[in-house]
Amino acid sequence: MYVYEPSDGHGLRHDPFVAIVAPRPIGWISTQGVGGGRNLAPYSFFNAFNYRPPIIGFSSIGWKDTLRNAQETGVVVWNLATRALAERMNQTSARYAYSEDEFVRAGVTPEPGRLVNAPRVAESPVAFECKVSQIVAMRTAAGRTVDTWVVFGEVVAVQINEDLICDGVYDKAGGAPIMRGGGTEEYFTIGAEQRFAIARPCSRLSSKGQACRKPGSTVGRLFPCRRGLRQRRRLADGHDHLGEAPAVRCPHAMTAIDQTSDPLAVPDTHAFERILCDIV
Ligand SMILES: Cc1cc2nc3c(=O)[nH]c(=O)nc-3n(C[C@H](O)[C@H](O)[C@H](O)COP(=O)(O)O)c2cc1C
Repeated sequence: MYVYEPSDGHGLRHDPFVAIVAPRPIGWISTQGVGGGRNLAPYSFFNAFNYRPPIIGFSSIGWKDTLRNAQETGVVVWNLATRALAERMNQTSARYAYSEDEFVRAGVTPEPGRLVNAPRVAESPVAFECKVSQIVAMRTAAGRTVDTWVVFGEVVAVQINEDLICDGVYDKAGGAPIMRGGGTEEYFTIGAEQRFAIARPCSRLSSKGQACRKPGSTVGRLFPCRRGLRQRRRLADGHDHLGEAPAVRCPHAMTAIDQTSDPLAVPDTHAFERILCDIV
């Protein structure tokens, strides 16, 4: 094993830390200053941190314009960075003066938020409008302050281009989202071919006190895709699978759900809550 302690340096040509935690989704964050100036920048120390309510977070290494606006206005918008927008996203990482409009610099169109006073990137197929819930100043294990802040935002509105909604299911690969690799220039994108499914093990009873269905039983049926490109198999537990993939076996389909003829129907809220637990 190659072993190093980060405080002593990594001893390699490139720091492997950000290459190991990769690829990372990109928080392409748009904000608007109190004076009305627009700002847009990518943050790959980014992720989702809560399901209900949905909360995302990103980390500003140094006090940057996005952080300033997030603190002063209390709102941010996350935009999905896609392969088609990759070069423009990258352009917004340049160090511009606070007064510069990065929408203009990158050649993307600002569209006003519906619930928050910050613009989204009109060309991006997905946006989360967020209210800042916390800004956390980071510290080391020894309690030393670090020049880094994590901004958490509760997602109060979600906008999705309808082309990416396939019979009620969000098409994860359809927008060709991009992710940050290690190094300064590396990115990855995903497509349907990278997808595989693993059903989670079952250890609980359904809300009606019945044991989960026997592992390996197949549930669900094929649904036509809105775009007509492919079909998805929607399982009763809320998972969806590409229709052309081999039959998917689900070990933890809930009996309460199985009993309905429509796999999209949710017979009771409690069961639905349990299913949400399975998804995350
Ligand atoms: C793909 C990508 C991801 C980035 N991720 C981060 C990050 O997580 N945190 C950070 O502080 N800077 C990150 N940067 C650098 C910022 O985008 C850059 O400092 C930018 O100028 C900040 O803009 P702002 O001052 O308008 O907020 C990233 C750059 C790129 C290209």
